[in-house]
Amino acid sequence: MTGQPVALVTGGCSGIGYAIARQLAARGHGLFLVSERTGPLDDAAARIRGEHGVPVEVACVDLSRPGAAEEVHRRVRSLGLEIDVLVNNAGFLLFGEAVDVPIERANAILQLHVVTPSLLCTLFGQEMRERRRGRILIVSSISAWRDFPGIAYYGSSKKYLRGFARALRSELGVYGVTVTCLAPGPVATGLYGVDSPAIRRGKRLGLFLDPDRVAEAGVRALLRGDAECIPGISSRLMALASAATPQWVVDLIRRRAPWLRRDGR
Ligand SMILES: NC(=O)c1ccc[n+]([C@@H]2O[C@H](COP(=O)([O-])OP(=O)(O)OC[C@H]3O[C@@H](n4cnc5c(N)ncnc54)[C@H](OP(=O)(O)O)[C@@H]3O)[C@@H](O)[C@H]2O)c1
Repeated sequence: MTGQPVALVTGGCSGIGYAIARQLAARGHGLFLVSERTGPLDDAAARIRGEHGVPVEVACVDLSRPGAAEEVHRRVRSLGLEIDVLVNNAGFLLFGEAVDVPIERANAILQLHVVTPSLLCTLFGQEMRERRRGRILIVSSISAWRDFPGIAYYGSSKKYLRGFARALRSELGVYGVTVTCLAPGPVATGLYGVDSPAIRRGKRLGLFLDPDRVAEAGVRALLRGDAECIPGISSRLMALASAATPQWVVDLIRRRAPWLRRDGR
């Protein structure tokens, strides 16, 4: 990859990450895609090369393992690449009360949503600071606007990402490196399971956005160097409503809605 900017996208083989990768490729970026499964990663790379004619490298790395960020950084260096755009997107949804979550899943989500993206920002952010240019996109969620029971691990990790993005933006801004937080509302992706009834219902009600629309808004915000982007009016309203709802109302709903409680009391 010579003479063109290079973007590293985690979780770039599907959903929002794939859509972001395509948006960046359409704007002339070469790509380094990272995700966990080889087949979908190779397929995504081949489709993007065919569509946009840009070079695409891939690395199959389980980002929920300790040492994953260092491994990705090593692989990028071994190819002699400089990363101009870092997109921390990989993630999964974890439903269930915190004390019921299997320890391996809890460990995995904390590594994937907290440790690995933070360390990737440190490793690649250092190089961007030295070059006095670079752009970082961190994918959080509107669930960061309120502490919801039933998704404590997911929501709190997304809250961490939002705070980390803000602090990093202040630190790196003086060196000409921008940090943008993308906080989508519900998006129709594999995050909820393929074609699940919840997605079908949400789509019918117009609550789920299309990943391409989310990616387009996110990439525009990234390239403008905006601080934060919540794509779609419905998601912005959901974030506002979440922020304005007192925690005691959330707790009351939780207590009054037996289907939300494990013991049904
Ligand atoms: N969909 C929504 O409603 C929504 C809303 C707000 C925020 N988000 C956030 O958007 C991001 C992307 O989610 P999505 O909706 O596009 O879901 P998705 O289609 O399921 O994509 C998730 C991506 O993360 C990768 N990934 C998951 N675990 C990984 C691991 N251990 N190591 C490496 N890669 C891993 C997956 O790769 P493999 O397929 O190879 O596992 C996949 O490419 C997530 O951070 C999610 O929290 C989504």
